Amino acid sequence: MPAAQEPKGAAADKKPSQRRRRGGKKHPKPDGDQRRREKQEAPTEEAPQEPVQRSRGRRNRNPQKEPEAKKLEEDSDVLLAFGALLKTNDPAAAAAHAAYERHEDQARFIEDARRLLAMSPSERKAMVQRAPPGMAMPPPPPGIGRSPPGSPRRVGAPAAPHPGSPRRNGPPPGLVPSVDHLPPGLAALALEVAAEGNPPPGISRSPPKPTDDDDVAAALSALISGNTPEEPPPKPKKKWEPPRVHVRRGGRVSFTAPDGQKGPLRPRARLDVSWELRVDEDVEVGSRRDVSVGLFRVGAPTNDAAIVAKQGKGTVEETGLARGAVAFFAPRAAGAFVFRLLDPEPPGQQQKPKSERPKASSNVYATSDKLDVVVRTHDDLLDSLKASLQQLEEPGRSRLGALQQLAVVAETLPASLAPKRLTHVGGRSGSSAEKKCREKLRACLARCLDELAKNVPGPLTLATRRRADELPFDVDETEEDALTRERAWSVLSEEDEVAARDAFEQQRVAKIKKQRNDDRRARDVHAACRRLCAAFNGNSASRQWLESAAPEQARRLDDVSTRWDALLEEFWPGGADGVAALRRHYDRADSFFRPTHQPSAQQHGFAWRALDDACARVLPQLFPSENFFKRREEVRRRVEACLNNADVLGNGRRLVLRVFGSSANLFGAEGADLDMCVVPAASEEDTELSSPEVCRRVGEALESAGAKNVQVRDTARVPIVLFADPQTGLDCDVSTHNPLALRNTELLRAYAKIDGRVRGMAYVIKKWAKIRGINSPSDGTLSSYGYILCVLAFLQTVPNPPILPSLQRLDLDWPNPKNPDRPPPERVPHPFDASRDVCLSFHDPDKTGSLADLREIAGRNRQSLGELLALFFRHYAWDVDYRNLVVAPRTACVLPKANKAELDCWPQNPHLAIEDPFETHYDVAHVLKYPKHQLVRKEFMRASKLIDDAAAQRVDPDLVLDYICEPLPVPDQVM
Ligand code: GTP
Ligand code: MG
Repeated sequence: MPAAQEPKGAAADKKPSQRRRRGGKKHPKPDGDQRRREKQEAPTEEAPQEPVQRSRGRRNRNPQKEPEAKKLEEDSDVLLAFGALLKTNDPAAAAAHAAYERHEDQARFIEDARRLLAMSPSERKAMVQRAPPGMAMPPPPPGIGRSPPGSPRRVGAPAAPHPGSPRRNGPPPGLVPSVDHLPPGLAALALEVAAEGNPPPGISRSPPKPTDDDDVAAALSALISGNTPEEPPPKPKKKWEPPRVHVRRGGRVSFTAPDGQKGPLRPRARLDVSWELRVDEDVEVGSRRDVSVGLFRVGAPTNDAAIVAKQGKGTVEETGLARGAVAFFAPRAAGAFVFRLLDPEPPGQQQKPKSERPKASSNVYATSDKLDVVVRTHDDLLDSLKASLQQLEEPGRSRLGALQQLAVVAETLPASLAPKRLTHVGGRSGSSAEKKCREKLRACLARCLDELAKNVPGPLTLATRRRADELPFDVDETEEDALTRERAWSVLSEEDEVAARDAFEQQRVAKIKKQRNDDRRARDVHAACRRLCAAFNGNSASRQWLESAAPEQARRLDDVSTRWDALLEEFWPGGADGVAALRRHYDRADSFFRPTHQPSAQQHGFAWRALDDACARVLPQLFPSENFFKRREEVRRRVEACLNNADVLGNGRRLVLRVFGSSANLFGAEGADLDMCVVPAASEEDTELSSPEVCRRVGEALESAGAKNVQVRDTARVPIVLFADPQTGLDCDVSTHNPLALRNTELLRAYAKIDGRVRGMAYVIKKWAKIRGINSPSDGTLSSYGYILCVLAFLQTVPNPPILPSLQRLDLDWPNPKNPDRPPPERVPHPFDASRDVCLSFHDPDKTGSLADLREIAGRNRQSLGELLALFFRHYAWDVDYRNLVVAPRTACVLPKANKAELDCWPQNPHLAIEDPFETHYDVAHVLKYPKHQLVRKEFMRASKLIDDAAAQRVDPDLVLDYICEPLPVPDQVM
């Protein structure tokens, strides 16, 4: 049978992933000898080996194979092809199968199937339509006779091999289908056919298939058996809507403890929540306005997950505000919470169970300050633990949530509750309720540690393995399965084959999605367990509890903690496997990427000095020449004149081109692009600037003036035209409405003037990021602007004393006393998002004359540029808690991600997040997705590691900057 020769070509053509089983064990690729052996065993009329076409909907065009295959001489071929046809929901095939199930006459069935397969789809369709009810198959056409009753086939004897059939010695390896999933009649028939020859060793009638480890094999069996898998109906495409929307209506919601207590509250403390909401002008004074007040965990992504929501009844006052108050209790478990003011639930919904209620409105009219609930007394502790441990056991409740609550308790357990001082929950004595609680907690920790012992691949590992085709994500099937499938398809008509391939493709995609969801779920569970374990390690009171009450778990935790990889977010397996895995992932195989001890001047001083010297050598080459600004100004003037001549604003309105970005912020190097922005000469004329039309006119004007490579991006958030200046070759861009970029350029420029180390660091970091390929937002890495913000935030928070203040927080009158009559900084509408406003004010030392004072303060820090660079790399490599913190030069202090999640719906993921200084709802690093965040972080780690190596004399300190800024190897040219 010619199809039997297809396997080798097909196997050779496959990607490595397609040759793998899930366990990672590769199918041996046939070597030359094996191929020769198989060739010799194969029948003489073997067709040339040609890869099986596996692309969707394409037929196998093997010219020699096709006529042979079409003959369907073998019963097994008929069976396979019929199975594939049945899978396409062909009504004639279904009728034939139904008929067979009634009469169980195998020979007759085979003949019916053979006849059906010889027909075209339209003939089959017409046949079904012609057939009278109850009559599945028409009488055979002349020439195709039914087996006479009592023929050898009827009594179950093996079918006589067709004369001239190539498979005289039984089916070639890999072509005996599994019969486990066939309907009983078909299974018997298949076995009968298979028994014709001697099945090759190792092929059993029911090969042991590990449960769901080989779902494609199961899919194949389903294909043969005709059990169409349940396909979910196609979902209508839904427009994405943010889960929560802040509606600016002057709402307010706040809480007070009845005793006026400030700060964190105890679990179940009583609270009075008051709210107010501005109502529409036409609403009558004295009328009712209801709301819903919900208690949420900080950052809960939707309004549906309220811990508790109460309806608030308010009365409209003359001020145009409706006001009301609701009584609440703080949650039983520790954590951080907020109240949100929402639309009221429609009447009659409150009584319904949660699952039956409609989704909560996405509108949020106001959010309260954060409510911190902490455990302070032994009773609180017991209560909180009991609540979470109970939640862990109750079906239908969130276990991840319960683990997180336990983690919060462990993270915040006060020293007063450490077991040394109190022998209650953590100690040896206590009530039986306490003992039970302790036992449950021990068991919970043991389960978490078991979970951590599993090697759940982190997102980067998965992404890397997917790229390297190591994961069986594309096709998780054996070679035999694939070949059997291909063989079944190859004998179908073109139309049926397309249908069969489509059905298979749908199944494959559904399987990939399921696998990815399972991966994500496994990672979430892993992360929750890790957080709980880390909490017991990180808080000394909890650690003491662990050591006294669960010494075994404490020991296991120590062991597992040493194998945690912060970059890949997974635990390495111990021993040689772990070492091998580490080597695969990191390019410096001799030493692993782990933080060393906090660097000290004693150990690292030599390397820092060497780095400083290297910076001193490099920086003069990086700083722009005197011509830099002059040349750019000439280009700006020329472009400005060109746009005015073309009257791009219309009606003769004049425009001014203003420069922003590195050509104006004092962080520009030769070769940087020239960023320009259109500003109307008369300030009130900016209404149309954001329109795509202006952008297109700019593009046309530049093109007619001879600009090269003009690209108009009129649908971008900020419409922009990119081009190259024909005279200088300079890369330029003109945006038509970008006032915030002009403002943030002024801010960056102000910071740059305060201390020479600010510019020095930014130049080295920009050079490093460009050379290491992590400075391209269009490729998913960070913009230069993002790196500069990272540098500013670092200089505000890490060096001691800090080198930079927050110019946005510094009083405008500083260093003079605050002027009490100065109005508060004005908030203006966001230039292209009417639902928001922005505060553009900052302390500009040039304008206020405070530059000398700021320089004097910065100068109190004596750390060298080399040391600061080393600390910068280390900080972003190891010290930043990416999951929980946001880089925010506006605040010059730690900004929790939960706050941004709450107010601006930022995702609480472990990616780098940078708050824009003016557009505070905008994450400058939002382009960084996995694995690009990890790529950037890996570069921070690499640089930090190189400096550590230089300090330990493993790397020549004089060359350490060269190593850090080593160009990436050029990828192999693809011919
Ligand atoms: P090089 O061109 O690489 O030398 O750096 P650059 O300083 O010009 O930075 P970049 O090209 O990344 O950005 C140019 C300017 O655009 C920045 O100075 C900002 O004013 C503005 N910009 C860039 N990215 C953002 C962003 O994400 N948000 C906002 N608001 N402005 C941005
Ligand atoms: Mg630029």
